Amino acid sequence: MNSAILEWANLFVRWFHIIVGIGWIGTSFFFIYLDAHLTAAVSAGKHSAGKIWLIHSGGYYEVEKLKYVPPAKLPELHWYKWEAYLTGLSGITLLFIVYYFGGSGYMVDRSVADLSQPEAVGIGIITLAGGFAVYEAIWRSPLNRLEGLMNLVCFGLLVAIAWGLTHVLSGRAAYMHVGAMMGIIMVANVLFVIQPGQRRMVRANAAGQVPDPTWGNAAKQRSVHNNYMTLPVVFVMISNHYPNTYGRQWNWAILIALFLVGAGVRYFLNTFDRGGKAAPYVLAGAVVGALALALVMSMPMSGGATSDQQVSFSQVDAVIAHRCVQCHSARPTDDMFREAPNGVRFDTKEEITGLLAKIKLMAVETNAMPLGNKTGMTEKERALLGDWIAEGAPLD
Ligand code: HEC
Repeated sequence: MNSAILEWANLFVRWFHIIVGIGWIGTSFFFIYLDAHLTAAVSAGKHSAGKIWLIHSGGYYEVEKLKYVPPAKLPELHWYKWEAYLTGLSGITLLFIVYYFGGSGYMVDRSVADLSQPEAVGIGIITLAGGFAVYEAIWRSPLNRLEGLMNLVCFGLLVAIAWGLTHVLSGRAAYMHVGAMMGIIMVANVLFVIQPGQRRMVRANAAGQVPDPTWGNAAKQRSVHNNYMTLPVVFVMISNHYPNTYGRQWNWAILIALFLVGAGVRYFLNTFDRGGKAAPYVLAGAVVGALALALVMSMPMSGGATSDQQVSFSQVDAVIAHRCVQCHSARPTDDMFREAPNGVRFDTKEEITGLLAKIKLMAVETNAMPLGNKTGMTEKERALLGDWIAEGAPLD
């Protein structure tokens, strides 16, 4: 596909995806907050679940949560669903634009597995569809009564999928597919369980029946799942800016550890206001986990010095000419990139020395670059670049 069209589509779909995503997560956080802060209202009737007063935009808002409204008084309702559906649709579109049509550099890393782009895309799509199918099968079956055990099983499956994908796809594609799989499950939870449950509730209410609270149980369960998946999924969506996560050995374990940190923070936010005793400990655990991760991520990946001899600039220039300038040049020769990605060019000495820290991060400390190791960079060459930078990047 024409790369200029793809580039524009990338921009607009991403922009849209972020806006609707903010809408979805924003309303979801807001309602969690409301539920946590409802207080028993003085005048509340027997169907009231509590009340809250808010101040914003130059006025007071009085909000009462009701489990039932007499049919004659049932007002026109505002539903919250399009934010979720549009986030899902735009997210899948973006996945196609960047990863499936964007050239194999994003999906395939030959030093991980020697796959063709169609094979890699096939694995991606099977993961997304299969992950959703297995999740649904578990939570729709009687197994869902063993909730604690099934939570563990799902977590185990997630670890297995993260491990498996990082062994067949490029690091960043593996991360993105784990996140997209969870995102699809979240949207499906809204579409197939949460919304139908609410429609059923409103229909019963309109017929004058007080809704049976057990109807809402499945919806509640899926809402809790979505709640805990939110922060991990948002991390994945920004993860491609952090090669220190996806571009390392053990990248699958880093991903899972970050998920646990995200879910821990979510647990804290959910329970602290309600006086949850464990909340501070979980938060402390998440902070310690985050610090431990920072330590792991600051450890260099490549081995020590290649030789005692000083590395010369001409050696470095040769490596960069062989492995980087196909893309990072004023006139790229790569089949996919017609312009230097992110404006990064290595045609001149100044362009190379101006980006030492980034080169070190992307090609020495991690293997984020060359993208998908399309140009076949070796570990020795990475070590050579590392040595040269460690020696103060001499220009002779
Ligand atoms: C196949 C094409 C390709 C090759 C070869 C390649 N890169 Fe990149 N590079 C990219 C793309 C695409 C991006 C933008 C990635 C993104 O948007 O996340 C990028 C981005 C970068 C960035 C900017 C990162 C940032 O944070 O903005 C640096 C630095 C970089 N590459 C260094 C290198 C080095 C060093 C090499 C050689 C060892 C290399 N690249 C080889 C495609 C390539």
